[in-house]
This record gives sequence, structure tokens and C-alpha cells, in this order.
Amino acid sequence: MKILVTGAAGFIGSNFVYYMLRKHPEAEIVALDALTYAGDLETLAPLKDEPRFLFVRGNICDRNTVFGLLGDTGCDIVVNFAAESHVDRSIEDPSIFVESNVLGVQVLLDACREYGVERFHQVSTDEVYGDLPLDRPDLFFTEQTPLNPSSPYSATKASADLLARAYYRTFGLPVTISRCSNNYGPYQFPEKLIPLTIANALADRPVGVYGQGINVRDWLYVGDHCSAIDRILEDGRPGEVYNVGGHNEKTNLEIVRTILRELGKPESLITFVTDRAGHDLRYAIDPSTMGEQLGWEPHTDFEDGIRETIAWYRDNGTWWHNILDGSYRDFNESMFRGR
Ligand code: NAD
Ligand code: TYD
Repeated sequence: MKILVTGAAGFIGSNFVYYMLRKHPEAEIVALDALTYAGDLETLAPLKDEPRFLFVRGNICDRNTVFGLLGDTGCDIVVNFAAESHVDRSIEDPSIFVESNVLGVQVLLDACREYGVERFHQVSTDEVYGDLPLDRPDLFFTEQTPLNPSSPYSATKASADLLARAYYRTFGLPVTISRCSNNYGPYQFPEKLIPLTIANALADRPVGVYGQGINVRDWLYVGDHCSAIDRILEDGRPGEVYNVGGHNEKTNLEIVRTILRELGKPESLITFVTDRAGHDLRYAIDPSTMGEQLGWEPHTDFEDGIRETIAWYRDNGTWWHNILDGSYRDFNESMFRGR
């Protein structure tokens, strides 16, 4: 099994690389990442001398790079994590989201056709379904829920899903898609709610909560997302979409309070700020297809996972300090030189 993992220097991609190398002793991984602001090669530094791992810096929008890489390495599976991933940034400037999240996926799909890969897996998100009302806890996103994205980010992810399904139907490309709920865990860029709140709380800085903090997200430990993708690669049906989640709905205020409590910080740090434009109210995944068809279930209980995650950020301050002060960019340059 030789897998091209795109976006491997980001949060979930890097966790997936470690998961797959550990779980499958025969697996080889080729990692492609443009090292945007969100990609950090330091996360993959322990793999520098790993013979089953190769890192290539490059953009999924670059046809020559992608075609050359698939042709040279003969990867039989492609898993695409590469994307612009932050909703707030997509509200500031949607263009790069369309480039990476839509046009980049088209390049990957074309290359997979050209080289006859056995599986293209698109890592999508539950945000393609839009949102659910706060007063209907009985409603969940199923794979049949119509796509109804709210933000430029989720609109580009929905577009990529449609393209991927069209390549399955029209060209017979063996495509699978997973739509996962919000992830948390180590190596998440400190602009997202959980790592940003931890970083601010540790520094006794105000913790920003959008609107009233009543929006609900459905949280899944990143390792459980990785195991779900692994199961889909093993036994998922081409052309299918799989919803991934663990029924862990929390309001943003609950998340922030949990973090402050765990770090022994006062709730007076909570600062309500202007709400996000178009802010989705509630995400909630029905993951029953993953359970019934593939026998997958999440293993990390939220209370354990969030405690471990908070401890990880407390113990790995250099990782996110380097990111926040920009010095990781120099590190990326030096790691990449000569490779
Ligand atoms: P991230 O922002 O942490 O990482 C994205 C990675 O992709 C970075 O390393 C970046 O350098 C790379 N990248 C961006 N544009 C690229 C391009 N054009 N070419 C090559 N590399 C590029 O994101 P993440 O949170 O790890 O998310 C990974 C994927 O999972 C995304 O597709 C996202 O939509 C999806 N997803 C994320 C979550 C979540 O909670 N974080 C939940 C469901 C789905
Ligand atoms: P985020 O981590 O950006 O993920 P997403 O928007 O993809 O769900 O945000 C999670 C929730 O937390 C979302 O409802 C917005 C909110 N939020 C805050 O209240 N404060 C913050 O500083 C951030 C980054 C997010």
C-alpha cells in the first residue's frame, strides 16, 4: 500500500500519517503539502529519516507537480486533506479557498484518472450540509441531507464533493468521501476554537467567544477520524459518502468553560465578541452508516480526549509558540532545503 497524502503537514493530515505508519507496517506514505501558513514541517520532523515516508513540498493546484509525483511514485491510493480550512479566513478572502479546495481537487482527480489509482479519498466536512436549528435536538445530518453550505469555506468543500462524485459517475474513478464533524487533538493550528482558547488562557489573555456562545459543534477526537478514514480505505464502497462523528455535541461556551476549568483559569477571561457572519448554529452527525456498513466506532471519550488535548498543548508550548511568533516558517525552509 503506497498512499499519497496531501495536506500532510496540517492538523488532521499529520495525525493520519502517524496513524497509518503505526497501524500498517507495510504502508509507505508520500506526503505532498504546499506549507501554507497552516502547514508545519516541524510536526513531521520525527519522520525525517523514516524510510517509509517521503515529504514533497508542492501545491495540489500545480498539474506538473501532481502528475509528476503520481507518475514517479506509483501511489495506488490518494487521500486529500489539502485545503484552506478556516471559516473566518474564507469570509475575509474566498479566492484562495476556491483555488485550493476546488481547482486543486480537480487536478488531483485528473491525475488519479491518468494513473489509474485504486482509490481517491476526499476528506470533506459536515459543514457542507449547512446547519441545524438549536431547538430540534432530534435532527441529525445523514448522508442524504441536501448540501446547503453557508460559508465560502463550506461552499468550496461542497463543490469538491460534487466534482469527486461526478468523476465517479462519469469516469468510473473509485472515489470515496468522508464528511466529519469538528476535530480536536494535537497539532491543530491555534486559530481554531480549542487550541486558540488554550493558548489565550495559558497566557491569561481574553478568550473570545463569538455571539452568545450558544452555537453547537459535534466534536470528535482526531485519532477517531483517522481510524474512520482507514476503515473507508479498506472496505468503503466507491461512489459512497460516509458521515463521521461521535455524538459529542457541545456549545462553544461549554467548550471554553471546560478548558478554563481544566487549566485553573477564571471565567472572567471569557469575552463575548461580534458574531461570525452567517454563523452556523448547530452541527450534528448521524454516523450510523460508518457503524453498520464498516463496523467503525469512535474510541476516545470526549472527557478523556479534551483533557489529554489540553495537557498536550500545555506540554508542547514550543510547537504553538513557534507558530504564533512565525519562527516555524524559518524551520520549514531549513527542513525543506536539500530534500
Ligand atoms: P489544516 O488547515 O490544519 O491543514 C491543511 C494543510 O493543507 C496544511 O498543511 C496546508 O499547508 C495544506 N494545504 C493547503 N492548501 C494546499 C494546496 N493548495 N496544496 C497543497 N497543500 C495545501 O486543516 P485540517 O484541520 O487538518 O483539515 C484537513 C482537511 O480536513 C480539510 O480538507 C478540511 O476541510 C477537513 N476537515 C477538517 C475538520 C476539522 O475540524 N479541522 C473537520 C472535518 C473535515
Ligand atoms: P472553529 O474552530 O473555527 O471551527 P468551525 O467554524 O469550522 O466549526 O470554530 C468553532 C466554533 O467556535 C464556531 O461556532 C465559531 C466559534 N469560535 C469562537 O466562538 N471563538 C473563536 O475564537 C473561534 C476561533 C471560534
